[in-house]
Amino acid sequence: MTKEFLPYYTSGVIVKGFGRGSKALGIPTANYPENVIEKLPKEFDNGIYYGWAQLEGEVYKMVMCVGWNPFYKNEKKSMEVHMLHKFNQDLHGKELKVIITGFIRPERDFPTVEALIAEINNDIVCAEKYLDEPKMIEYKTHEFFTSQKT
Ligand SMILES: Cc1cc2nc3c(=O)[nH]c(=O)nc-3n(C[C@H](O)[C@H](O)[C@H](O)COP(=O)(O)O)c2cc1C
Repeated sequence: MTKEFLPYYTSGVIVKGFGRGSKALGIPTANYPENVIEKLPKEFDNGIYYGWAQLEGEVYKMVMCVGWNPFYKNEKKSMEVHMLHKFNQDLHGKELKVIITGFIRPERDFPTVEALIAEINNDIVCAEKYLDEPKMIEYKTHEFFTSQKT
């Protein structure tokens, strides 16, 4: 699905989320603060996206959830990034840059937490595959990541 506001470039400091990511789901996410969420253009649809994320000089594949987490009925909009990499350290307070390159699906509610986890794992498989496309690989070394400016 084409979205005219993509690719979308943004950056910010990782803050604490609701804390369910790693524990309840086994899928850790890095949450953006409100100032990053507020910058999203108003036509930016809630949903699940994929792209690249840069943390401490390294660029990783990522999936991102933008919206209200209908499964958890959040009262605040969130923007969470799951990087396709296993980190053994705490990422809070670190600067995270992302290039959102594509849309996967809208946010949904699920009957069980297992169904939510299965869908997220499917999103990860999709992102893994889509980001191997030559047009998508180009963004991995984009100037947004290689230049010193934030
Ligand atoms: C790729 C991805 C897809 C997601 N899809 C949904 C979804 O369709 N519906 C939903 O309610 N939450 C979805 N979530 C959000 C999870 O519910 C969320 O990561 C979880 O609530 C943990 O948030 P926390 O770390 O802020 O507690 C998704 C998260 C990711 C990373």
